[in-house]
Amino acid sequence: MKLIVDTDTASDDAVALLLAARDSGTELDAVTTVAGNVPLPLATRNALLTLELAGMGGVPVYEGCDRPMARPLSTAQPVHGDDGMGDLGLADPAGRPQPGHAVDVLLDRARARPGEYTLVSLGPLTNLAAALLRDRDLLGRYRHVYCMIGAPDAVGNISATAEFNAWVDPEAAQIVLSAADPGRVTWIGWDVSRRDAVMTPGDQERLLALDSPLASFAHRINRKVAEWARQVSGLSGYDLPDPVAMAVALRPGLVAEHEKAHVRIALGDEARGQSMVDRRLTGPPPNVTLVRRVHEKGFKELLFGLLAQEARV
Ligand code: BDR
Ligand code: CA
Repeated sequence: MKLIVDTDTASDDAVALLLAARDSGTELDAVTTVAGNVPLPLATRNALLTLELAGMGGVPVYEGCDRPMARPLSTAQPVHGDDGMGDLGLADPAGRPQPGHAVDVLLDRARARPGEYTLVSLGPLTNLAAALLRDRDLLGRYRHVYCMIGAPDAVGNISATAEFNAWVDPEAAQIVLSAADPGRVTWIGWDVSRRDAVMTPGDQERLLALDSPLASFAHRINRKVAEWARQVSGLSGYDLPDPVAMAVALRPGLVAEHEKAHVRIALGDEARGQSMVDRRLTGPPPNVTLVRRVHEKGFKELLFGLLAQEARV
């Protein structure tokens, strides 16, 4: 699989990048960054250092949009740490981003090889929406587009009802939805993460027992998220939204439940970022496939297996 990953790289994005980097059936072709969890330069730094740790420093990283389409940027630094990576004082990467803008990369690669690339989006959809404004047919040029975004059960993590990526740039999410179709675009929301991708204390012990640099890194960078998950979300450990979305892209057979539905993202202040799922038989036709459950054990086996490996050199 030829893969492009668009990411606002912080703790869980970094774990997702490790999965993509370590999966032998996946050719990680490019990483594009976007402002979200952290300001753009930090997202880029975190992507670079994660790829270097995985022995994949040769994967080109391109910077994209540094703010949402129509709103000021609100980051998730209280969740992930000021540096987005648990404030561990990680060393700066050796590499730099490539010249060129992420939006051009999303457009050019897909046009050069129509139907070959899979795109995994792990942040606000700003880059993809900006690309769609230039090429309305772009989604059809990808083999498939997977997005970690939304909360189809209306249980939010940034507001009562909204998931962070949808809330940060709801206009971008809506642009993507208006061009999407369920055969081409799959959304994996925060409901999946909360139910099927929580690293319980037992999972955390097992991760550390792997005694590999990647497993230890994945655990340590999530230390701030662990506090947040306990105090705000009431979970029994840190959850891994971006890694479970990446796992679906790498192994679609992990999906346990899905539905095709028409989704809109609320733009008004009170419901900002809320996923509005229209399941009426007389409603508009479905525009996305929503993953609702993932096989938890299979996801965790994939995670443990890929993080146990030595970094590529
Ligand atoms: C999403 O928001 C971010 O904080 C995470 O990286 C993930 O992409 C979960 O709601
Ligand atoms: Ca993310």
